[in-house]
Amino acid sequence: MSEMTQTHPEYNYDVVRKFAVMAVIWGIVGMGVGVLIAAQLIWPALNFDTPWLTFSRLRPLHTNAVIFAFGGCALFATSYYVVQRTSQVRLFSDKLANFTFWGWQAIIVAAAITLPLGITASKEYAELEWPIDILITLVWVAYLINFFGTVIIRKVSHIYVANWFFGAFIITVAVLHIGNSLAVPVSLTKSYSIYGGAVDAMMQWWYGHNAVGFFLTAGFLGMMYYFVPKQAGRPVYSYRLSVIHFWALVSLYIWAGPHHLHYTALPDWTQSVGMVMSVVLFVPSWGGMINGIMTLSGAWHKLRSDPVLRFLIVSLSFYGMSTFEGPMMAIKTVNALSHYTDWTIGHVHSGALGWVAMVSIGSLYHLIPVLFNKPGMYSLKLVNVHFWLATVGVVLYIVAMWISGVMQGLMWRAVNADGTLTYSFVESLEASMPFYFIRFLGGCFVVVGMLIMAYNCYKTITSDETADTKEADSAEAQPA
Ligand code: HEM
Ligand code: HEM
Repeated sequence: MSEMTQTHPEYNYDVVRKFAVMAVIWGIVGMGVGVLIAAQLIWPALNFDTPWLTFSRLRPLHTNAVIFAFGGCALFATSYYVVQRTSQVRLFSDKLANFTFWGWQAIIVAAAITLPLGITASKEYAELEWPIDILITLVWVAYLINFFGTVIIRKVSHIYVANWFFGAFIITVAVLHIGNSLAVPVSLTKSYSIYGGAVDAMMQWWYGHNAVGFFLTAGFLGMMYYFVPKQAGRPVYSYRLSVIHFWALVSLYIWAGPHHLHYTALPDWTQSVGMVMSVVLFVPSWGGMINGIMTLSGAWHKLRSDPVLRFLIVSLSFYGMSTFEGPMMAIKTVNALSHYTDWTIGHVHSGALGWVAMVSIGSLYHLIPVLFNKPGMYSLKLVNVHFWLATVGVVLYIVAMWISGVMQGLMWRAVNADGTLTYSFVESLEASMPFYFIRFLGGCFVVVGMLIMAYNCYKTITSDETADTKEADSAEAQPA
């Protein structure tokens, strides 16, 4: 780490600060909408007979807000921070950085207006219509130039592994977004995909699965490789494993998309390829998780006193859980039971809430004091309260969905001796209601935790204390 002792260039923290604060705000909004739609599934009257408050329109608002607004801002903040610190150089361009910030916020606002109005391209996680898609492309290309521009002008010879993951995430998302969004516009608010039939489905789930693999996984692994060693005060467990992890993950993920289309009109062999690749994907996923968790070896005691570290390590446990569950659900015979049920929703949230949200929250708790030059968060006690609210909330959510999902799958396939169905669909829906309530409760826990986080961040940012900058920088020197 001799490079870390060089004179400290002035980093662009302004853009990191803005993205970090917006991540907290969009987290509250996106998860708040999640709680609202969870409540609507129990009390449908909560749509107030208003078209733009119906479940069908708010559901994509929820997914876009949590993935792209909350997750996206957290990724922008951490990648801009990590690439500067580990390259020992200021961002390639402040203008491009500002453009990505304001452009991304404009896209989020456009999504928040058009989705409730029912303006949609009808592709999951790619609902936004073509004018917004063009803006996304412009912002993403600016991000790509800025990130790789910074890597190119770096002052150290080595490219730290976190940047490999962030880089793969940025390049792949550009290719996925452009590939899947190609469409023929017929008006300002309506377009039709250039793909048709089964090819369209294939393209969509090539996109959809890799949105999971690269947006919701690779970028957050970049976060893990920087913030876990940093917060633990130890070097990453195995650098060699991290290189194997990287190449195995990026080369396998891209083939797994057809597991979303089992038993459909897609050629059977493509479904089987998707299944096999998904099962193999278990290996690099767990390699990465083990690398993250074992970074703590010799420092386990820190978990007792550091709730920020707890967020990071528990997020890795959820990552391990969801990447064990995913390959299992990709096996055709298992998918025959799980598909269309709440089991999928449970899997999604053990990944998205347990892994993505918790690793982001841990990283943000590490970042906020550094960015605003404070000795630490205003209250570690409140971080701890947030940790428990989030953990209990996620567990309530996913356990409820596992039970209701498996129950639904079994009820739908139950047949009587004469071949008729044992249960009507409505009976399975009625049986799901208690679990929907538990999910709603879990969601409330999570959102209350986020509100506490916002308060804690506000008090930290506005406090009069300042950290001794030099001290903060040398403490920072760990994994670069
Ligand atoms: C307070 C926290 C949250 C609550 C209460 C919540 C609630 C919900 C609900 C009720 C649905 C619709 C389920 C259905 O259609 O049956 C949903 C879908 C979804 N949520 Fe969340 N959510 C939360 C947090 C998150 C976070 C943080 C993420 C991502 C980072 C996320 C990603 C998704 C995705 C991707 C779907 C669509 C799943 C699919 O189509 O299979 N959610 N959520
Ligand atoms: C080895 C890793 C993983 C594999 C093989 C995998 C596999 C699967 C499978 C088989 C499904 C169900 C498809 C269906 O029946 O419709 C699914 C759904 C999903 N998974 Fe995973 N999963 C993995 C990890 C993750 C992680 C870490 C996340 C989140 C961060 C995630 C997010 C999702 C989402 C959002 C869906 C729902 C897609 C939709 O229908 O809208 N997965 N996954």
